[in-house]
Amino acid sequence: MLMVVLFGSLVTVVSAASVADVVLSCSLVEEASALGGRGGTGSPFSRTPATLILKDVPVSSEEDTETLTPFVPPSVPDPAAIMFETKVSSPQIPNVEVLLHADCHDLEVACEISSYSPRGAADRPGAHFFMASINVGEDFSSTLILQTLPPADSAMVHPRLALPLTRAGTLLTEVVFLMFTNTVSVPGAVRGDAHLHCGFLQKDKPSVQEVEVEWRLQHRGRGVRILEAKARSDSLEGGSTVNIKRSDSSIDAAQVVSEGNASLSLSGLKVSDQGTYICSVVAGQFYGQQVVQLRISQPPAVSLSEDALVQSGSPQTLTCNCRRYFPLDVQMEWSSQAPTDPEPLVLPDQGSLSSHQQHGDGTFTLSSRLTVSADVPAGTKLTCTVSHAALDSPVSVSLQVQAADTVNYLGILGFLIITGLFFYQVIK
Ligand SMILES: *[C@@H]1O[C@H](CO)[C@@H](O)[C@H](O)[C@H]1NC(C)=O
Repeated sequence: MLMVVLFGSLVTVVSAASVADVVLSCSLVEEASALGGRGGTGSPFSRTPATLILKDVPVSSEEDTETLTPFVPPSVPDPAAIMFETKVSSPQIPNVEVLLHADCHDLEVACEISSYSPRGAADRPGAHFFMASINVGEDFSSTLILQTLPPADSAMVHPRLALPLTRAGTLLTEVVFLMFTNTVSVPGAVRGDAHLHCGFLQKDKPSVQEVEVEWRLQHRGRGVRILEAKARSDSLEGGSTVNIKRSDSSIDAAQVVSEGNASLSLSGLKVSDQGTYICSVVAGQFYGQQVVQLRISQPPAVSLSEDALVQSGSPQTLTCNCRRYFPLDVQMEWSSQAPTDPEPLVLPDQGSLSSHQQHGDGTFTLSSRLTVSADVPAGTKLTCTVSHAALDSPVSVSLQVQAADTVNYLGILGFLIITGLFFYQVIK
């Protein structure tokens, strides 16, 4: 037991010993009116290039630190450049190592910084706040609330932001509150469950605090409330209130205050649950949001209308059914392979599609009707191949066209075998 503890602390020391800097290209987003109203340019927001330097991002010991270089400030600071410098020590940004490799993996990094006002900002004169939203594809999403720190050796004042800069020309800040999600995009099956993660961390967590959480679903421009929760760290059992609007949704109020875990659990998923979920948290002075996408998908149940097709001297119909799938797009392809064909051929006549049928749960059913001509040789294999987003690989169903009298031969052959076996048993 002691060994394990020692080992654990050693690992922490080693990994804490190597750190790297992450430099992100961001946009400073400001309300145009705040800049003196640029009058009639259309967009109410202006964007200015800015840099976010995350200092001392911990690097795991397996990492090849040779490839990671520390941030070197320009030797002649450009007073107009906007560079936010942030130490990443406490709270630690979860999954921040994704940012170390975003470049090499060609991941698109989206970073936006804007001005932020905490609630009761008047209590902290002199402090300025910014909000940085960082997204890396489906791998990383975090919103940092940055508070400015007075630089030790202030040399200049930023001409536009009117804030003191370090000698290197950076604006020194620290993370005071952050929100993040480990599940940027969540898949869910119809009637299944989904877990939408939303977490928050604070630099100075008060011993007693009330936290408010709200989850909303944004769908086709409409916002629908899923649930609201209010939790207090000092409240006895039952002191928290959870107001559920969507049945089969839940949140663990105790985890909200103890772990900063405001995750939403959904069960009995329906197609209508698909969309953009917004997790809003208010904790003391700070508030923030995280966005989680829920994508519903359900693979089609694929079947043919007939178990067997026996030549009858006239054309017959064979239907391929795709039942209860989502989303809408599905591909069906008919192919045939006669005994003389070396490989299956896609049929030139792909039959006719039914119209989509939508069920009460939002899933779809679609059929393709193929007319099998009377002169199709016996032994021909007819195959319907279905491709759909919810299927890892296409699904095929097939049958073999039988000659009218093969059935009888087969029947007689079967009878003979069974009879033979019977006598064999009796004689033994
Ligand atoms: C957050 O809480 C939920 C329960 O509501 C739990 O299932 C999940 O594992 C927790 N997630 C994290 C990252 O702690």
